[in-house]
Amino acid sequence: MNEQTLSMRLERVAAHVPAGARLADIGSDHGYLPVALMRRGAIEAAVAGEMALTPFRSAERTVCENDLQQQITVRLANGLMAVEPADGINAITMCGMGGETIRDILEAGKARLSGRERLILQPNGGEQPLRQWLMDNDYRILCEEVLRENRFDYEIIVAERGGPVSYTAEELYFGPLQLQARSPAFVSKWQHRLRHKQQTLNHFGRARHAVPEEKVQDLTRQVRWITEVLA
Ligand SMILES: C[S@@+](CC[C@H](N)C(=O)[O-])C[C@H]1O[C@@H](n2cnc3c(N)ncnc32)[C@H](O)[C@@H]1O
Repeated sequence: MNEQTLSMRLERVAAHVPAGARLADIGSDHGYLPVALMRRGAIEAAVAGEMALTPFRSAERTVCENDLQQQITVRLANGLMAVEPADGINAITMCGMGGETIRDILEAGKARLSGRERLILQPNGGEQPLRQWLMDNDYRILCEEVLRENRFDYEIIVAERGGPVSYTAEELYFGPLQLQARSPAFVSKWQHRLRHKQQTLNHFGRARHAVPEEKVQDLTRQVRWITEVLA
């Protein structure tokens, strides 16, 4: 993967960035996503935010090598602290981080959000707490995808702020739109998960030390939900 050839995962994220957007890519690492979009003329400007020095330098290098310093600003900053009002950001991507981390970045940086940005999120796990945050903060999920690449299942969640929205516990767990669409990638992901969770439940049953009842009940409920959805 590089700024010319994105991974399928980042390519699918790129597809949800509105044409001509002013993009903030938070946790940008190498900066491939904003640079690829800028090279294609798909966005107007971007901020690449990074908290760690080595990836920050890597993003700076990618921007410089592509001579895009006028269009892409690379900032060493924690989460949404990379975004400034003058940037006029209207799309935010956060990819390749845990869902809880993305949720914490959104929560900590609420004051930096105008509420008019499209959020394009690609969590590595932790989708449920991330969807919970979106619901609690009036973000409606507009689009969801599951995709498999290099033996990993990835989810993409696209959301925009509107009025209050209400999702059931199952919708927060599986994704409200994925639950309706039940794409082949969705079914395959949950088949894998079901096998894994059933194995864990069996291990719990044979564990030498008692597993807390609450944990067993939680996992049992998940296995039931997944079994029902795949039925
Ligand atoms: C696994 S990389 C993903 C890079 C790229 N977004 C992608 O999907 O290929 C996650 C990056 O997020 C950065 N990161 C984690 N927490 C962050 C935060 N609070 N603010 C900014 N960057 C963060 C890490 O330093 C790391 O470079």
